[in-house]
Amino acid sequence: MSNIIELRDVWKRYDTGGEVVEALKDVHFHAEPGEFVSVMGPSGSGKSTMLNVLGLLDTPSEGTVLLDGQDVTDLSDREMTTQRKRFIGFIFQSFHLIPTLSALENVEVPTLFGDDPTARDRATELLERVGLGDRLDHRPDQLSGGQKQRVAIARALINEPQILLADEPTGNLDQETGRSVLDLFDEIRREDDVAVIAVTHDPQLSNYTDRTVELIDGRIQ
Ligand SMILES: Nc1ncnc2c1ncn2[C@@H]1O[C@H](COP(=O)(O)OP(=O)(O)O)[C@@H](O)[C@H]1O
Ligand SMILES: [Mg+2]
Repeated sequence: MSNIIELRDVWKRYDTGGEVVEALKDVHFHAEPGEFVSVMGPSGSGKSTMLNVLGLLDTPSEGTVLLDGQDVTDLSDREMTTQRKRFIGFIFQSFHLIPTLSALENVEVPTLFGDDPTARDRATELLERVGLGDRLDHRPDQLSGGQKQRVAIARALINEPQILLADEPTGNLDQETGRSVLDLFDEIRREDDVAVIAVTHDPQLSNYTDRTVELIDGRIQ
């Protein structure tokens, strides 16, 4: 099977006024549709940087990013945004929900500029799917941590991405709630053939993943 996402020879350097930090060093990485891969490593090892490069939120200093076999490294900002919306859903440790919006409205946010009349129905279906059909009108402060993360997962799926990128998705959840979120990732990758790439400290993730990649000091081991 072919890779839905790939990094080739990727280096990322941050120039912080004098000192240059090499956050990624010659990173090669790939994931196939439906694959669940975890990226583990100590704090500061480059995990978030790698996820940002995979998600087209940041560009490498050197090397190539491919989405579905296409080189997307040198696209304009605008084209990059289009490809990001088409291919990628993001999930963050701290959920990043908008506090004044309902669960349903939060899930609809990534569609707001798309003028899409089916968005509300899709958002409702997704919230039902993640077990929150009875919480559509609740605001984030009326939801538990696990429920907030489920809203964030539904939001990440609204544009039918082929890749889900998650930065410490269970970091703010207790073990059992974390497990239910991981069960949901597992279901999504099996049913929708979505590649799930999760950066984590959580050792229980490796019970769910096909593969674990270890990042130390910017290098894949
Ligand atoms: N915007 C930035 N500017 C300068 N240095 C950065 C920036 N982002 C990350 N770094 C540095 O790059 C390295 C990797 O960071 P990061 O990817 O956040 O690691 P992790 O997510 O594994 O904790 C660290 O040394 C960090 O200080
Ligand atoms: Mg990080």
